[in-house]
Amino acid sequence: MSDVISAEGFAPLRIKRVVQETSDAVSLVLDVPEHCSHRYRYRAGQFLTVRVHVEGRELRRCYSMSSAPLDDELRITVKRDRGGIVSNWLNDTAAEGGELHVAPPEGRFVLPEATADSDALVAFAGGSGITPIMSLVRTALAESARSVRLFYANRGPDSVIFSDALARLAERYDDRLVLQHHYDSDSGVVTASAVASFVAGTGTADCYVCGPAPFMETVENALVSSGLPRARLHLERFTVAQVPPGVTDDCGEATEEVVIDLDGSRVTAAYRAGNTLLQTARLAGLKAPYSCETGSCGTCMARIVDGSARMLNNDALDDDEVEEGWVLTCQSLPTSRRVHVVYE
Ligand SMILES: Cc1cc2nc3c(=O)[nH]c(=O)nc-3n(C[C@H](O)[C@H](O)[C@H](O)COP(=O)(O)OP(=O)(O)OC[C@H]3O[C@@H](n4cnc5c(N)ncnc54)[C@H](O)[C@@H]3O)c2cc1C
Ligand code: FES
Repeated sequence: MSDVISAEGFAPLRIKRVVQETSDAVSLVLDVPEHCSHRYRYRAGQFLTVRVHVEGRELRRCYSMSSAPLDDELRITVKRDRGGIVSNWLNDTAAEGGELHVAPPEGRFVLPEATADSDALVAFAGGSGITPIMSLVRTALAESARSVRLFYANRGPDSVIFSDALARLAERYDDRLVLQHHYDSDSGVVTASAVASFVAGTGTADCYVCGPAPFMETVENALVSSGLPRARLHLERFTVAQVPPGVTDDCGEATEEVVIDLDGSRVTAAYRAGNTLLQTARLAGLKAPYSCETGSCGTCMARIVDGSARMLNNDALDDDEVEEGWVLTCQSLPTSRRVHVVYE
């Protein structure tokens, strides 16, 4: 296996099993050979980058582990995105015995190291957002004494992924797990008051949120209004917000060159207007790391040590990192004559 790991860290993993979870979501159980199992160790809440070729194009997408580290299998769950290329391709074509090229796990949507067992864990999942949440919830229940509250929103009962597994979990941990399903078909979309009442009286809690953009916005705003400290709020965005008009107006106009340090070598590239730092690195022939290309995953992060750039979207870096010069290169347009960017 080691001789087929690509320079960018992708290895072919065999699909051991395909499970049809709902009419529009499949789980893919991946076979990790013993000798490279260390590369695919993960923390609950992390994701894999999958690289596929569809109609001659190489595409990369992130998929969170829906399995938990305590399981002896690695599983992702992919929900069809209407009009989306890779999610539909995987749902239509992934088959037992097939191969997927997969990079090692990444991501920071993980359980905190430092909080106490007495702190509750509250999770809000919408649709396919259950994948990392399932992993987090199962891990917290199995490996700590924390009480867990899970609010899971779907259009209706037929769209619920892991319905049976969740019911079994609620039965097994009936003293520590509260599971509340929300169906839009019964009560409309999730409202701020539904969120506020679900967290009311929870005390000190870590809150995890993953789901469609409007769902996440409602939950995030409601939690912040309820007084939850930002440090206790953990968000995983699968989709990207629209870039506000005017943000790119003065970007790249005066930029002439981008200096890029990667893997111990330095390349100076002429800048082409409109390109991000990641695109500039690729045009210069560099194999710079990336995955989602939407500003969500953090795989492409690098530090600007000279010059400046503006990010179109940032759902991965915190304020301190941005202050230190870190940027998401897939979202960064230069704003100075020369930019020096370092992949560390
Ligand atoms: C950290 C992370 C973890 C994730 N984990 C999971 C997971 O566990 N499970 C899961 O199912 N998904 C997950 N995702 C989402 C996943 O990575 C993909 O984004 C998703 O599967 C859609 O990919 P796609 O190729 O099918 O859609 P794409 O082809 O990328 O299209 C996405 C959407 O944009 C629309 N679109 C595309 N082009 C245009 C255009 N020109 N104009 C207007 N609209 C357009 C499409 O109709 C579609 O709705 C995760 C994402 C991230 C960032
Ligand atoms: S590739 Fe995911 S944030 Fe840039």
